[in-house]
Order: sequence, then C-alpha cells, then structure tokens
Amino acid sequence: MRTYITALLHDIGKVGLSKEILLKPAKLTTLERTIVESHVHIGNRILRKELGKTRPASFVRDHHENWNGTGYPRGLVGEDISIQGRIIRICDSFDVMTYDTRDYKLTKMAYYDAFEELKRCKWTDFDGNLVDEFINMLIEIELPDSWYDEYNAEFMKKMFKELDLKELM
Ligand SMILES: [Fe+2]
Repeated sequence: MRTYITALLHDIGKVGLSKEILLKPAKLTTLERTIVESHVHIGNRILRKELGKTRPASFVRDHHENWNGTGYPRGLVGEDISIQGRIIRICDSFDVMTYDTRDYKLTKMAYYDAFEELKRCKWTDFDGNLVDEFINMLIEIELPDSWYDEYNAEFMKKMFKELDLKELM
C-alpha cells in the first residue's frame, strides 16, 4: 500500500510550484531547475506533516535519486535509496519518455525506444535489475499504445488480473 500511495502522490510537491516554470516550453535556468527540484521536499512534507504518511513521505523524497549518486535531493547511492524510490524513478522516467511532453521535449518516444533508453541508463540513473523487471513486466502485460489517451477497460482487467499487485502494496 505504501508503494501505491507513493506512486499516486510522488509529484504532489509540484502543487506549490508556478505554472510558468512547470509548463515552460524551453530549457529551465539553474534557478528554475532548483525550484522544480524542491518538489521532493514539498511532497515529503505534505505526506509526512499533512497526511501523516511517514514512510511514503521518505519514498517521495527519494524518487529523483540516481543509482550512481548523481540524483537529488541527497545524492544517495545504490541500495541506500529506498526500493520504492527506485521503482518510482523508473516508472516516472518511462512516463516522461513516452507521454509527458511538458518539458522542452515535444515528441513522445515509442515504448521500445524508451526501453532502450532505460537499459542505456542501467546502473547510472537506475537500478539495473529493476529496469529488467520493469521492461519484462510491460512486455508481459502488452501495454497498449492507447494507455494514456483513452480508458481501455479490457486492458485494465487483464493488467490487474496478471500482476500481483499485493506484492507492490
Ligand atoms: Fe518528481
């Protein structure tokens, strides 16, 4: 349940950020990037102080850490990053690559190109073992192209039946 809560609320800290920065159709300045990065602290605080969710709060804080220590906010390395934070890092990156065009990037990547990008960043940005698990899982469930654009009841039924979601919760 904690991973599920974290996944749903991982970017809740962005509610306090200006639309001009979040939706800026150009590369962010250093100051703007620092402001955007603060969303992990704001999210951590919202979950911990406002919602009383201490453990999910720490996972939200970890969701931009990189396996090799180049992430933020604390520059944690490897298994010092919570596994929940490492999972959300991969899912969020896949989302940005294949759907989210808010940043200066205006085109979506095909799933298989995104898989290659995730593999390229194994053991630098991401936990390589989790990347393999993630890709295998998406291939197994046959994620449809229409995933984000329209509700696909058949796919949702199949996904919830095939995945052992209790394991994630
Ligand atoms: Fe984020």
